[in-house]
Amino acid sequence: MADAEVGDDVYGEDPTVNFLQEYCADLLKKEAALFVSSGVMGNQLCLRAHTSPGDEVICERDAHILNYESGSAAGISGIQLFPISGINGVMSEEDIVQAIRPVEAYYMPRTRVIAIENTHNRAGGAVVPLEKIIAIRKIAHENGLYYHLDGARLWNACIATGLQPNEYAQNFDSVSVCLSKGLGAPVGSIVAGTRDFIKSVFRLRKAWGGGMRQVGILAAAAQYALQNNYERLAEDHEHARMIIHALSDLPGVQVNAPEPSTNIVVFEVDGKSPAELIDACKNEGVLISGATKTKVRALTHLDVSGADITRAIEVFRKVIRG
Ligand SMILES: Cc1ncc(COP(=O)(O)O)c(C=O)c1O
Repeated sequence: MADAEVGDDVYGEDPTVNFLQEYCADLLKKEAALFVSSGVMGNQLCLRAHTSPGDEVICERDAHILNYESGSAAGISGIQLFPISGINGVMSEEDIVQAIRPVEAYYMPRTRVIAIENTHNRAGGAVVPLEKIIAIRKIAHENGLYYHLDGARLWNACIATGLQPNEYAQNFDSVSVCLSKGLGAPVGSIVAGTRDFIKSVFRLRKAWGGGMRQVGILAAAAQYALQNNYERLAEDHEHARMIIHALSDLPGVQVNAPEPSTNIVVFEVDGKSPAELIDACKNEGVLISGATKTKVRALTHLDVSGADITRAIEVFRKVIRG
């Protein structure tokens, strides 16, 4: 990062950012890509670029864009989200077709986008099967809708399935991926799509105050993360499997364990609230977070070693049995 060659990215003149953008566009086999500050900004810029105020976006009910982005679809873009309950984060084609508003119904919101999340955070890092993605793309195209991928952890889906990022990305009009999270970069996400789409997103990013100047220092870290920490995501998946295995042996524990597992473990414990579990684990030096009103979430990533996992499992056993 200290050695990164930088320029003014507000003018598109930062060579390290430009290299990262081209590298990611190639990885995702999209015409163009844009570096943005966060996954939330990536998702919300895409939704805004695809819609006008009053439009509607179909998404899964536990989707990040619905639950964890501070209401910004409504607050910033004036659009509403239509949530559909999925199984392991995957919406059924029938439910999606039912949710699409008739084009002639001027008194209804206009459906504009179908958004999916892969891997799905709240669904325990579930991978959305490629055949589902393709089936939903068909619905989107038949109905003239844009198709957006919240691929904050797309890399984890790729490592779990052996598919390449572009095999997923080619199905979508817009893709947002994170370079922080499991890959370990301190900051940053990428939005990818057609050249025209990225042009609109570039303009919106500036309007939202997201244009950053000598940001190559961050792009350098993101580039390093992609080139050095990608394959090792498999270790995180192995670590998550170790946690799932250990939790499954404990009484009163229900683990969401969709197959294949990736780097998220969502679980609940009879008689213990998320707040109690989070506090008890924190007192023993293990950080987990809340997933829903009853469930907690443990994540594996670059900074969590095999020894840390062994320790975390000991703590889970103590806290849950105790
Ligand atoms: C599925 C998903 N999308 C988007 C985001 C947002 O990323 P960020 O925290 O970088 O804004 C997250 C964050 O955890 C996520 O899990």
